Amino acid sequence: MNLELDGHVAVVTGGASGIGLACARAFAAEGCRVALWDRSPRVTEAAAGIAGDFDCSTLGIETDITDLDAMREAVLETESSLGPIAHLTHAAAIGSGKFGFPFTNLTPEDWPRVLEVNIMGMVNVAHAVAPGMVERKAGTMVFIGSVAAQIGSPTDPPYSASKAANINFAHCLAKDLAPHGIRVNIVNPGMVRTPLNRSVWEAWNRRQPPERQRSYEDWAGEKVRTVAPLARWQQPEDVADMVAFLSSSRAAQVTAQSINVDGGQVIRW
Ligand SMILES: NC(=O)c1ccc[n+]([C@@H]2O[C@H](COP(=O)([O-])OP(=O)(O)OC[C@H]3O[C@@H](n4cnc5c(N)ncnc54)[C@H](O)[C@@H]3O)[C@@H](O)[C@H]2O)c1
Repeated sequence: MNLELDGHVAVVTGGASGIGLACARAFAAEGCRVALWDRSPRVTEAAAGIAGDFDCSTLGIETDITDLDAMREAVLETESSLGPIAHLTHAAAIGSGKFGFPFTNLTPEDWPRVLEVNIMGMVNVAHAVAPGMVERKAGTMVFIGSVAAQIGSPTDPPYSASKAANINFAHCLAKDLAPHGIRVNIVNPGMVRTPLNRSVWEAWNRRQPPERQRSYEDWAGEKVRTVAPLARWQQPEDVADMVAFLSSSRAAQVTAQSINVDGGQVIRW
């Protein structure tokens, strides 16, 4: 299938690691020029690696999505270096770093940082990127949500609540931006082996008595087999494939959709 993304400019937040990095690589494989925005200093190296692997132009910007001015600067830097932004994938997010079941394992003080990064970060990115797309009357946005937004996930309540907010705001964006020719969708992964996923296990394991502690592989392997009908991990590339498709003209009639790449973990009817 030709996704017709060749020569387009794609921005991926959280592009230095995990799912964001896989999305950036997927856009590069399709012939895009790719900007990675991430607060990790590894972002420059990640961008250089993609440029080498796919012989394409990339840009790594070390920046923080909680800073609106920095997001506006990142747009200017990306557009002056690579050209007008055609596609946004927003994957940057954090968890609380604590195991939040029951919710009283956390204190209210554990919430604001997660909400600031995961909700206000998305808001800042949308405010920075949308005006150019509106002016050009074209563009796509894909936000990475989570199955945690859709169920009472026994892990991290502020994270789950922030992901639910991501889905809701993305639906607002989709309605607002449709008249301007901009499509907005959400992709919800289930279990993907990344540093963020590992931190959930670490937080759980820390709270267990020694006899109940388990390796990441044992904990996650059993969880995946229990919760997902397909009974296996999703790979970052599984999520990236859906993101690339939704960003492409092959999905020209798809907007305001929340699509799970979760091995069937969440079944709705
Ligand atoms: N891994 C999973 O099992 C899973 C499941 C469901 C949803 N998700 C979602 O997938 C997305 C990607 O997560 P991942 O698992 O690849 O995690 P990850 O930790 O590998 O990557 C997240 C990236 O976001 C960056 N980031 C964090 N805060 C930032 C900030 N303030 N400014 C700029 N960059 C920032 C980090 O530096 C990191 O590179 C997230 O939205 C997450 O909620 C992941």
